Amino acid sequence: MIVFDRVTKRYRHSEPALDDVSFHVPPGEFVVVTGPSGAGKTTLLQLPYREIAPTRGRVIVAGLDVGRLPFRQIPHLRRRIGIVFQDFRLLPRRTVAENVSFVLRALAWPADRRRERTRRVLEWVGLGHRAGAWPAELSGGEQQRVAIARALAAEPRLLLADEPTGNLDAERSLEILGLLHEIHARGTTVLLATHDRELIERSGARVLALRAGRLVGPGVAA
Ligand SMILES: Nc1ncnc2c1ncn2[C@@H]1O[C@H](COP(=O)(O)OP(=O)(O)OP(=O)(O)O)[C@@H](O)[C@H]1O
Ligand SMILES: [Mg+2]
Repeated sequence: MIVFDRVTKRYRHSEPALDDVSFHVPPGEFVVVTGPSGAGKTTLLQLPYREIAPTRGRVIVAGLDVGRLPFRQIPHLRRRIGIVFQDFRLLPRRTVAENVSFVLRALAWPADRRRERTRRVLEWVGLGHRAGAWPAELSGGEQQRVAIARALAAEPRLLLADEPTGNLDAERSLEILGLLHEIHARGTTVLLATHDRELIERSGARVLALRAGRLVGPGVAA
């Protein structure tokens, strides 16, 4: 599903944020990316959806060389990927349901299918009863569950989650981890960036550890 082949990412003239990083994630795997602040976790997660392009090396997602993808093909790539951010990024002037169905509208789903799918994913994250609420009326954990529902609405094969529990307490974090496990059990490949040790241990996932832009420890490709 994802191949990083000797990927280096350098922002301007600084030290590389990622330095010669290689790994594979087969379809259906759950992988955790960890490392201290500044180690390159966010940079790594931004490469598969072409938020940024590698300075050197190749990033392959579902067979596409995303670093060399023509701009007009980027929306097509992003349709297959669900993304969850630490700060939720819900649209404040849209209801919970609209935040989810908005994505499907962008994909030109017909109205009746949008409604049905939105209802299902919100029920799935336990927020069917809050469909008409505004994001500001929800707790942080609830907002993150909406963000997850939105990321899953279009049934992506790949879910990228960058510190999705960074703003949540331990109990809510485990709830989010439970959701990610369910998503994974349904066949979605999951890449989760976190520095929460308890979460990493409980995830049971393969761990890619970054330090100053380089992969260290177990799980490193030769
Ligand atoms: N847009 C940017 N421009 C310049 N430098 C950047 C940019 N984004 C990240 N960096 C630098 O790249 C390095 C890796 O940053 P990155 O955000 O990937 O780390 P991180 O592991 O996600 O950290 P955190 O745990 O704090 O989120 C850091 O030194 C950072 O300052
Ligand atoms: Mg980060």
